[in-house]
Amino acid sequence: MSILKTKDPEIYAALYNETKRQAEKLELIASENFVSEAVLEAQGGVMTNKYAEGYPGRRYYGGCEYVDVAENLARERLTALFGCEHANVQPHAGSQANMAVYMTVCSPGDTILGLDLACGGHLTHGHPLNFSGKLYKVYGYGVRKDTEQIDYDQVARLANEHKPKLIVTGASAYPRFIDFQKFREIADNCGAKLMVDIAHIAGLIVAGLHPSPVPFADFVTSTTHKTLRGPRGGLVMCKEQYAADLDRMVMPGIQGGPLMHVIAAKAVAFKEAATPEFKQYQTQIVANAKAMAQEFLNYGYHVVAGGTDTHLMLLSFIEADYSGKKVENALDASNITVNKNTVPFDTRKPLVTSGVRIGTPAITTRGMKEREMKTIAGFIHKVISNLGDEATYAQVAADVLELCRLFPLYGKRLEDKPL
Ligand SMILES: Cc1ncc(COP(=O)(O)O)c(C=O)c1O
Repeated sequence: MSILKTKDPEIYAALYNETKRQAEKLELIASENFVSEAVLEAQGGVMTNKYAEGYPGRRYYGGCEYVDVAENLARERLTALFGCEHANVQPHAGSQANMAVYMTVCSPGDTILGLDLACGGHLTHGHPLNFSGKLYKVYGYGVRKDTEQIDYDQVARLANEHKPKLIVTGASAYPRFIDFQKFREIADNCGAKLMVDIAHIAGLIVAGLHPSPVPFADFVTSTTHKTLRGPRGGLVMCKEQYAADLDRMVMPGIQGGPLMHVIAAKAVAFKEAATPEFKQYQTQIVANAKAMAQEFLNYGYHVVAGGTDTHLMLLSFIEADYSGKKVENALDASNITVNKNTVPFDTRKPLVTSGVRIGTPAITTRGMKEREMKTIAGFIHKVISNLGDEATYAQVAADVLELCRLFPLYGKRLEDKPL
């Protein structure tokens, strides 16, 4: 029997409905995933009660002996996973991880280079409405028109011209490998530090499916909840020479007490990520993304950069008379969740866009494979080919529900106790 159900039926109902939504719709948002029940248990546990400002062995509060165990395990496991020199697992989210690095390296007004949002970058890589764009002078680099892949010549040109303090790479919506060695060379040539944000591709890197930036970057930041399949959160890895400054910047620089329940759950996720099953899972994510992208190419869609090396793809409707927003809404009505996304050289507004981003991490966690990817691409094609036709949406929604029931989420625990 759920205690929550008796104590707070409204929140219970919201949780129940959210569990049902996750189970009964196709989750194709590239930045989302379904964590294990072990991760859920750790994150929902009593460590949420504990204040622990400081770091293991050097806290400002008493009673930290057990949260110290959790944070030490998280740090050790993360260091082993990526082979980094130093790890900080306290950032509350990916944005805080990036803020901690910028503030460690730069002073307000300093120059940063980052990937444009329209070409796949993240808000925290210098968008004018974000702290990064407000505090620093940001020059954005983009992708080449012919390949829709990062224009490394432009990065080198901008770096030589503007002499940034920090070069940032990594992305939220970029489907191809990033050449970290090339970024290192460019940074060295202009005396910049290099930060790589692997929020999206962290799991792929752990599994050896995407080249690692760790040997090349001064700082590597990430979220823990995307391909890495941990709780919502952030992390920073860096070379030993920056360790003390970085730790001081995370706390007391930009954060107070760490979220110890989340750090415990991060530790659990890092342990899971070290298993052969995790590598197999990541391999399937990429195989699924490639299979789905190929199916979209077969249907004649403009797949950005011609396909994918990773867990995500972007469909571009730049040449079409419908927008990303229209497709997102139509798919939503058909039980398929994606997000509209700007695509390179987009002319539509950011809330309208000319593309959608599609990712395979969550549906791969449910056990779906290449065969289902073809089916799902078929669903999406059917919806896009019949935009505005409610009967098509209803038909696809029913087909989606049937498919989802073949790949249950969290077993049969929906009945009385939502997760
Ligand atoms: C590349 C990248 N960096 C940072 C973030 C920010 O993470 P958070 O939403 O946890 O602040 C995201 C989130 O989508 C991201 O894609």
